Amino acid sequence: MTRYQIIPALLSVFLQASLVSAYSQEPEGNRNAGSLLKTANEKIENEYTIPSWTQLKKAMTAFRNNPDDSVILAGALSKLKPATMPYCVVMNLNGDPRRNMAFTWFTNEGNPAGKVQVVKGNTGREKEFRKPFLTATATASQVTDIPYCIKGNDLEKTAGIPDGTRKSYTAHKAMVSNLKPGTTYSFRVGNDSAWSSTGFFRTADRNVKEFSFIYTADPQATTEADFHISQTTSHAAFREYPDANFWLCTGDHINASGENNSEWEWEQFFETQQDLFLKYPFTSVLGNHDKSPNRNFTNHFSTPFTPFDHQFSTSPGSIYSFVYGNTLFLALSFEDYSKEGYLESLAKWMRKEVEKYPDVTWKIAFYHKNIYTGSVSHQDDNDGIVVRNRFAPLFDSLGIHLALQGHDHIYEVIGPLKDKKPVPGSVSGVIDVTPDKRENVTGKLNGVFDVSRGTLYFLNNSAGKKKYEPRPKEEMDSDEERLGVPGYYSLFTGRFGQTGRPTFSNVKVTEKKIIITTFEVFDDGNIKLFDRFEVVK
Ligand SMILES: [Fe+2]
Ligand SMILES: [Fe+2]
Repeated sequence: MTRYQIIPALLSVFLQASLVSAYSQEPEGNRNAGSLLKTANEKIENEYTIPSWTQLKKAMTAFRNNPDDSVILAGALSKLKPATMPYCVVMNLNGDPRRNMAFTWFTNEGNPAGKVQVVKGNTGREKEFRKPFLTATATASQVTDIPYCIKGNDLEKTAGIPDGTRKSYTAHKAMVSNLKPGTTYSFRVGNDSAWSSTGFFRTADRNVKEFSFIYTADPQATTEADFHISQTTSHAAFREYPDANFWLCTGDHINASGENNSEWEWEQFFETQQDLFLKYPFTSVLGNHDKSPNRNFTNHFSTPFTPFDHQFSTSPGSIYSFVYGNTLFLALSFEDYSKEGYLESLAKWMRKEVEKYPDVTWKIAFYHKNIYTGSVSHQDDNDGIVVRNRFAPLFDSLGIHLALQGHDHIYEVIGPLKDKKPVPGSVSGVIDVTPDKRENVTGKLNGVFDVSRGTLYFLNNSAGKKKYEPRPKEEMDSDEERLGVPGYYSLFTGRFGQTGRPTFSNVKVTEKKIIITTFEVFDDGNIKLFDRFEVVK
């Protein structure tokens, strides 16, 4: 036999042997599957993290429904994590982004305060953490007996976890400061018994004049399928813009609000996007669906402490500011607007923050509930009208250039406005297209919006499944008196409509302009340009 005859012959023998082996192992495979379930049944819940335990329960339920499928169960068993292991790990912008980074994570109840270790560079190898560049000890607070899941989460059916189950946690928060501007660091959180995966971040440059961020609104999921949609959106966004400096969200991270809400939804929010939270700092505000006396939002994020916020808010943590490069960001919440003294305190705080940073090029406010909006569902909401009457004049007087909003799950470019009216001569370069009563009501695309004399109010639809429909002009016209805005429809100066698909925006900030590019995201994660406009002054 030549060499060229030996190789195929050997291959044939090997393949036959493999087939015989696979065939003869099948009964053993079934036996293995049975023993997998036995192994799972013998596990003790409080030895493992809550998220990994829920995954195991789900896998066990799936296996009972389909005993042929043991792969998921084997996977869940191999992914069980010890009870001390951190989860829901997130980096938050907190204070000066050139020098500070804040970290928040959960562990199961009763765990001692952990710490964050930071090393220079982006390799983050285990041995480098033995001598960390910086270590900060976390504060730990016990989050006791909060609701874990509601009926809509479907965990009773998919995991045998009863609706209304309650669980307890430890919430850890830590902050590192004295970092070097424009430097890449690796980090991990936890303690010597269990460390998180390694994450990475880059501090803002000393005199940064250009940066960009991803802006998403209302991922707001209830079921596993809905969480799949919103994580597809965020992953598509960072795949397209891997160099974005941070991630800004305008609230409604999850769906179940109130006293009987769902920590499982928060768990899903983090678990489905954990890879991103280990790479991009997150800055966000409270949405009405996030609002709960259980304070899930407060416990999951580390933001600067603003006294009146902690005095008034149901779930504080939304009122803060930071300066990134040439831009002042004001994070706001109107959720507790009806509490005596709340809006007054907020207005006073905003004025003080704006006065503190007179030299910034841009002032961007971001918050959940729209001051101006145009959907059938929310345009005439009472709280929106109250907040608009109080805050639109304040935005005018503080010279807020851009407002990034949430809540209304629709795409709308509004303004620039002053005194509740479009500023004459402030819009150029808009392309006229054939109007569509759902996707493009105004028949407008793109544009250049000069915000030197007014504020541009923008909402980029929503990152999740839930959508609202545009309100027709005739309805807006007939409701003008109640809305308190004459000619409301004329405020929609750019594209206004509903794609029906999840969306995200990339916001690029330079000295001369802000460029906002919005994409719709398909089920398979592919994206399509929806609108692109510029803000100048
Ligand atoms: Fe909302
Ligand atoms: Fe929402």
